[in-house]
Amino acid sequence: MKMKFKLSCIVLPVFTVMIALGSCVPAEKQSEETLFTARELFPEPPRTAGQTDVIELRCNPIDTVRVAFIGVGSRGKGAVRRYTFLEGVKIVALCDVVQENLDKAQDILLENGLPAAEGYSGPEDWKKVCEREDVDLVYVCTHWDLHTPIAVYAMEQGKHVATEVPAAISIEECWQLVNTAERTRRHCMQLENCNYDFFELATLNMVRQGLLGEIVHAEGAYIHDLREHIFNEKDGYWNMWRLKHNEKRNANLYPTHGFGPICHILNIHRGDKMEYLVSVASNQFGMTEFAKQRFGKDSDYAERDYARGDMNTTLIKTTKGKSIMIQHDVTSPRPYSRIHLLSGTKGFVQKWPVRGIALEPDAHSFMDNAQMEKLLAEYEHPITKEVGELARKVGGHGGMDFTMDYRLIHCLRNGLPLDQDVYDAAEWSSIIELSEQSIANQGMPVKIPDFTRGAWKKVDVVTYH
Ligand SMILES: NC(=O)c1ccc[n+]([C@@H]2O[C@H](COP(=O)([O-])OP(=O)(O)OC[C@H]3O[C@@H](n4cnc5c(N)ncnc54)[C@H](O)[C@@H]3O)[C@@H](O)[C@H]2O)c1
Repeated sequence: MKMKFKLSCIVLPVFTVMIALGSCVPAEKQSEETLFTARELFPEPPRTAGQTDVIELRCNPIDTVRVAFIGVGSRGKGAVRRYTFLEGVKIVALCDVVQENLDKAQDILLENGLPAAEGYSGPEDWKKVCEREDVDLVYVCTHWDLHTPIAVYAMEQGKHVATEVPAAISIEECWQLVNTAERTRRHCMQLENCNYDFFELATLNMVRQGLLGEIVHAEGAYIHDLREHIFNEKDGYWNMWRLKHNEKRNANLYPTHGFGPICHILNIHRGDKMEYLVSVASNQFGMTEFAKQRFGKDSDYAERDYARGDMNTTLIKTTKGKSIMIQHDVTSPRPYSRIHLLSGTKGFVQKWPVRGIALEPDAHSFMDNAQMEKLLAEYEHPITKEVGELARKVGGHGGMDFTMDYRLIHCLRNGLPLDQDVYDAAEWSSIIELSEQSIANQGMPVKIPDFTRGAWKKVDVVTYH
């Protein structure tokens, strides 16, 4: 007994000192390998023999792109309307399980002088739509659970596919998209409209032209108070699909809007790639609070156990040493924000909550508004110059939606690589499950899979052809 006591007297303090020392290793001596080894929770599955990557995939030009829309709820109807303004397009099929939505989408065609498209309303009819011989592009605007199943099936039927965000809701689905696109050699684009916001495009142009120097850090977000929509039983999302996801998962559920523009600016999987992330979520307060006020404190909604913490903050490190912060909050009363912040060696830009640009040698404070507007005009992106005027008229989030549609059809008609490829879709969507895992493990660093399986060095800049 005596001996044991003596040993513990020595061992315990030594052990304590070792831990203390470990946590005090000077920063320059800490290496990511020794102290913060990111957990590889999702190892990259080997590529099937004979299958190759689809970086800069070019397909045969399509003179008239025959489009089928699946899911014509709030977002899908808007897309149908915008497509009536595009040249070189024929809308051949519309599919939705709600007959009223289908009828309204047909009306949009008729009101714009176009013939009605063939309508489909069965829950599995999207398969029939994908199987049609006369479809080149399947455009998916359903709830999240069907994005990947439809995209995969469409590519297997030889169709190009464009799907609303997020393209996938699990890492398994991300790989399904990548493998199917590589095997079938079909385009799979995630419809990330925010990449075409005029301000974001101008900042992309500024970065490409070196105005901000080397981008060191970037921030994006999806901060949008959606409580009225999420809890709207009558006119909200179909079958309250968004509430169900918010109820089940604690993650950054909707990462792509703030993230897509930043990833293109940082040339992710075109010369740089994401290494690992850490993610932390606040607890959940907002949904319960809202439900109590709206439905009563004893209501079913108020008593539910919502999984998703209101504010999620995810930090990412890239191979070339850049850092990214990405946030998600759809249940707090705050002004809308996608942040869109770029911090470079020569300057700084942000879009929300207030737009501002600061450049060397006066980067200590924002330049005045007149100077900023002049600069934004000077760096207007060539795509905005080409289509911005029409896009503003057609609308859709101020014109960025139409710009996205225009670019997709332009590339398909000219046999060009799309602006956003399947690896973008997988990378941007993968944040959902990766953040979920990190949150569940007290912010544990999680390795981000290389969905290109080594092809990320093939080109060194994102090009909008
Ligand atoms: N990019 C953006 O700015 C933006 C904006 C809003 C929504 N979205 C995305 O668009 C998608 C749709 O959102 P929404 O607001 O239109 O939701 P919504 O609920 O209004 O629309 C979903 C539609 O899918 C239909 N649907 C359900 N099951 C179907 C099936 N088996 N076959 C065919 N149709 C089916 C529903 O009837 C409904 O019309 C979501 O992924 C959302 O994240 C993107």
